[in-house]
Amino acid sequence: MYNHQIISKPELLFNMLKEFIKDSETTISLLANSIALLKQYYPSANWIGYYFVKEQTLHLGPFIGESACIKIPFDKGFCGLAARSMETQIVADVHTEDFHIACDANSQSEIVVPIIINNELYGVLDIDSPLKNNFDISDKDVLEEYILLLKTGIKKELI
Ligand code: SME
Repeated sequence: MYNHQIISKPELLFNMLKEFIKDSETTISLLANSIALLKQYYPSANWIGYYFVKEQTLHLGPFIGESACIKIPFDKGFCGLAARSMETQIVADVHTEDFHIACDANSQSEIVVPIIINNELYGVLDIDSPLKNNFDISDKDVLEEYILLLKTGIKKELI
């Protein structure tokens, strides 16, 4: 039904996400598949997932990778930094800041994209790579557009 090949072009990534938005009856189904799609786009990533805001804390959502921290306070980690600043964080080397939270010891670089709905932080998308310097401004552009699209499919209730 769906194509499980590596996704090499952003346009294909966006088109496949649009299919999932159209077909998903629940937000949790959409979020779960949106992570799987990103794994097809970033096959070498070792962790891809969401954290969602509840009571000024980030809570683990759907992900691919090793089991991860369940909660991240806003003042911890690059996820917390993205949450506080509400701006995408591109981290070339996660070991340069001691506030980095190493859920997976293999992670060397990461990108964290905030998800903002109605001017409020809803959550963050976090992608980790076992390679240093694996994300740049073009990834920021692709992922911010991906999140813009994704938001059109997010409903108030998860299921
Ligand atoms: N590295 C992140 C924490 C999340 S995990 O790596 C899955 C951070 O520094 O916020």
